[in-house]
Amino acid sequence: MSSLNPKDYINKKDFAEPLNFKGQELFFEDSSVQKLAEKNGTRLFIISLNQVEKNAKRLLAAFKKYPRFKPCYALAANPLPQVAQTLVNLDFGIEVVNIYELRYVLSELTGVPYIICNGLSKHTIQNQQKESLIQTVMKQQKKESDITLNFNSINEIEYAKKLCEKENTELKVGLALNLASHFQSSEISNGLARFGILTEQLPAAIKLLKNSKLKLAAIQSHIGTQIIQLHKHIKNANILSHYALQIEKELGTTIENINLGGGIAVKYYKTPQNQKNLNPDYTIEQYAQNITEEITKIYQENGANPPIIITETGRWLTANTMILMLRVTETRRTPQNRYEWIITDGSALTDTNDAVWIGQYFEIINATKANQKPTKLYNIAGITCDTNDAFAWPKNNTGPRKLPKTEPGDILTVLDVGAYQLPLRNNFNLLPKAPIYTPKGEPVKESALQFNNQ
Ligand SMILES: Cc1ncc(COP(=O)(O)O)c(C=O)c1O
Repeated sequence: MSSLNPKDYINKKDFAEPLNFKGQELFFEDSSVQKLAEKNGTRLFIISLNQVEKNAKRLLAAFKKYPRFKPCYALAANPLPQVAQTLVNLDFGIEVVNIYELRYVLSELTGVPYIICNGLSKHTIQNQQKESLIQTVMKQQKKESDITLNFNSINEIEYAKKLCEKENTELKVGLALNLASHFQSSEISNGLARFGILTEQLPAAIKLLKNSKLKLAAIQSHIGTQIIQLHKHIKNANILSHYALQIEKELGTTIENINLGGGIAVKYYKTPQNQKNLNPDYTIEQYAQNITEEITKIYQENGANPPIIITETGRWLTANTMILMLRVTETRRTPQNRYEWIITDGSALTDTNDAVWIGQYFEIINATKANQKPTKLYNIAGITCDTNDAFAWPKNNTGPRKLPKTEPGDILTVLDVGAYQLPLRNNFNLLPKAPIYTPKGEPVKESALQFNNQ
């Protein structure tokens, strides 16, 4: 276990932006973390919209050499309207996964350049909705909105085909392909198998698309989130390109867009852990360069013009934009546990749900003693009654963590919680949801529709 001081990694590229040190004190942008906690209390989240913008501009710059690039933001990662609107203002489209997210985008955001609809069972009518997502997309396309959907199943294609015939209307669509059969089972999550059209179903899908009013404009494949090896992204791009060219021949049309899904990974581990390399083996610039080169090469070899490349990025754009601040309520040594417990006023179950749910590692700093060398190993817990409410412990490899000697009243800062943690909050033990503030200490308002989307 490393004894690195936060000063040793903060400010390194891709590590712990937007934290910095002023003298001995830990700052989030221009505000002292300790003072923010003293002023606003704990537990709370701080978000940097500047960092959202910085990440977005870096992604755009990484793809600058490829003019036919269309970035999309995967709304599921962080549905705060301020986050999505910041990205829309930089010309990002929005990716949604159901009718609730779509309605949210249509009512909460302005000037969205394009919308991509993914998700399962888009042909069905969800609870209390009047129409299916496919029907909504058709209506929006009639209004000339730049909106499309990617089919996840043959059922969806059959439904949409009938709908187009009934309405005598064309529908611009994409195919979400499931490329699992091209990867080793150890390479991607087997949970992905239920998403997308299996490659063996492609002939049936193409047969349905032929001579129909469905106009195929995109091929998409999402191979999972937090993909830490670049070669998997390259393989995804490679296989998808070959399928796109093959389908183009069979349908006798040009498929304008190749959509690589999400999966760009974040450097959650700031200090070396267990000798394993658990961080991505690439930067965003390397991702962009390798992906665009791979796709360009394949299209050129086939005498075709390179397509528009779409990405649906959620995690990488948002993870480092938020921290969670907790106060240590007590410490506790037990005969059963090897490491002393730090109890906090937060809850891993609700504030960083992934720490419990999938054993996600989030870096944790004692902000009160940020300049001191970590010397002691701790488990770190939340305050709820569930034994699994732990931010860091050996049971799921999230801990123990080396911190300076930590005492009640100290402020702990959990890093990189901007992706997926807000929407996974819950009211377990009737804990109120932790409020969100800007670095200047102003409250950030959440959308009422986020919680009450009928
Ligand atoms: C279809 C699809 N696209 C994009 C994303 C966003 O992925 P990430 O947050 O890894 O960028 C997801 C989320 O897993 C997804 O399911």
